Amino acid sequence: MCGIVGYVGEREALPIILKSLKRIEYRGYDSCGILVQDKGKIHVYKSVESIDYLEANISESEYDGKIGIGHTRWATHGAPSKKNAHPHLDGKGEIAVVHNGIIENYQSIKEGLLSNCVFKSETDTEVIPHLIHQTLGKFDQQTFKKSLIKNAAQIKEAVKDALSCLKGSYAIIVAVDGFDGLVAARKESPLVIGVGDRENFIASDVPALLEQTNRIIFLDEGDIAVVKKDSIYIENSGSEVKREERLIEWTIEDAEKGGYEHFMLKEIHEEPRAIIDTLRGYLAEDEINFGVDFKIDTKGKSILMVACGTSYYAALCGKYIIEHQAKVPVQVELASEFNYSDFVLDGMNVVVMAITQSGETADTLMALKKAERYGCKTVAITNVLGSSATRIADKTIYMSAGPEIGVAATKSFVAQLVIFYLLGLFLSKMPASEFVEHLDELKRMPQVAQMVLDEADVNIQNHAGYLSRYEHVFFVGRGVNLPIALEGALKLKEISYIHAEGYAAGELKHGPFALLTEDTPVIAILTSDNTYEKTLGNVKEIKARGSPVIAIAEEDDEEVEKYVDAVIRVPVTSAIFSPIPNIVALHLLAYRTAKERGCEIDKPRNLAKSVTVE
Ligand code: G6P
Repeated sequence: MCGIVGYVGEREALPIILKSLKRIEYRGYDSCGILVQDKGKIHVYKSVESIDYLEANISESEYDGKIGIGHTRWATHGAPSKKNAHPHLDGKGEIAVVHNGIIENYQSIKEGLLSNCVFKSETDTEVIPHLIHQTLGKFDQQTFKKSLIKNAAQIKEAVKDALSCLKGSYAIIVAVDGFDGLVAARKESPLVIGVGDRENFIASDVPALLEQTNRIIFLDEGDIAVVKKDSIYIENSGSEVKREERLIEWTIEDAEKGGYEHFMLKEIHEEPRAIIDTLRGYLAEDEINFGVDFKIDTKGKSILMVACGTSYYAALCGKYIIEHQAKVPVQVELASEFNYSDFVLDGMNVVVMAITQSGETADTLMALKKAERYGCKTVAITNVLGSSATRIADKTIYMSAGPEIGVAATKSFVAQLVIFYLLGLFLSKMPASEFVEHLDELKRMPQVAQMVLDEADVNIQNHAGYLSRYEHVFFVGRGVNLPIALEGALKLKEISYIHAEGYAAGELKHGPFALLTEDTPVIAILTSDNTYEKTLGNVKEIKARGSPVIAIAEEDDEEVEKYVDAVIRVPVTSAIFSPIPNIVALHLLAYRTAKERGCEIDKPRNLAKSVTVE
């Protein structure tokens, strides 16, 4: 949930740490802190403001140092405050730790093993430097201090010792006063090493490092690494391990705003590209290929999808798509509910698919592990190469949305839908001519999405101005567009802070009608399919209660205008593909409305891009 970075090399660490932190500020932004180590001195700077603010308040002339660590925080234990901001240090101020994750047993450690220590923060993290200190204290201090530079092995052992006391999840970077390297370790939280020339980097996420290097090592579960400027030593379960260095093709421009005011707008505009790239991954000459070892024997089998947030709504849409195209039953569960439910997996002939943009959402990873325990076949559908989900699942299907920085997911949702269309067709037994029709329409989706961006945006902007004045909005849809209504509402509420609810169009009359007044606009998705007449009927009922209605309808729909207050037009598609144009329009509507309201679009309050705690 937090972002951590580290640098060791021959350049000044401070500007590198600041730059890297800014790139992963989306992981949490309620406080930040940096430590730079300089010839036996440790300098720590913290702020409850932004990283820009921190930067403006440190004068580079104050110190230099070729080793540094940094942290941007999303609070879990202890309020956002300067004293709770990382790095946290041991009692002597010699050992510093930045941490992403949660130490579940920190309270009992404080009261037991560390009952003699004085703690300065309310965080769970602070026990880690104290525990490391305790173990280091067991070594002969004089010899240790004299040859600290050579004592990587002892420091690593002390970190391992400390970690063996912890329950929970962590990605940590440890700096020790006078030591010419950093120690990094991970358990259930992502961590990567960036490889440079006489310098190396550590970070919780690849975008943090792209400006410095594209040579990345993904640390594995349980890895502990000693990183110096010209060496990287990685160990797992007591033995040295080699981890492959991978070249990341994302450019720094991919991870930057590219001239758009917000990452979210840039990412909405990248939706056509995300469709093209995702299709390219698995579609060649009208053949869908998920790789040689990917077979789902659908006979008597069903699919269970687990996911959170936007990915959950994508999965719900995937259910409609796959059931329509492949006639394979699909069940969708919220990962956070599935993990603690008595859901019967025993003896079920089910393939479990985890849908997760980041591949790091704690609840989704737990769900994957549960499925694995029951011996189910598992598939991760994710956007992030080498992410934790890919290590747990038997098989990974990558969507190719590129780095998504805006906290509110947009292009990854569209890429997830594309994977479901491909899966639905891959598993289908439809006649060849029908298959080709579906495939042709799927290939047309980048243009369809582009048409919405080019033609509907001006109109959407006007509606956003109108919508921004209200405090409650309903989104309604049916069938494959019900999840689109849910996602449209989620997007609006998370970035504009308008209370928005997505509902099945036919369900409003079972309760929410009581809330309808002229102050509760309703966005109705009216796609020309077998639900059209019924949804139009619902719209008439809504209008009769005085609520203004904005319809999302196809260009050739001449009927709709008579019954609603305004229409956002989208290109005509067959019903099963209508989620693509509809969601592009709703993403734009949420963005434009939030902008009208002057909200912090890329960093909505209280939210984080990647939720690595349960
Ligand atoms: C967070 C993000 C959402 C995202 C959800 C699931 O809540 O703010 O945008 O949909 O996590 O993330 P995942 O990476 O698993 O898709």
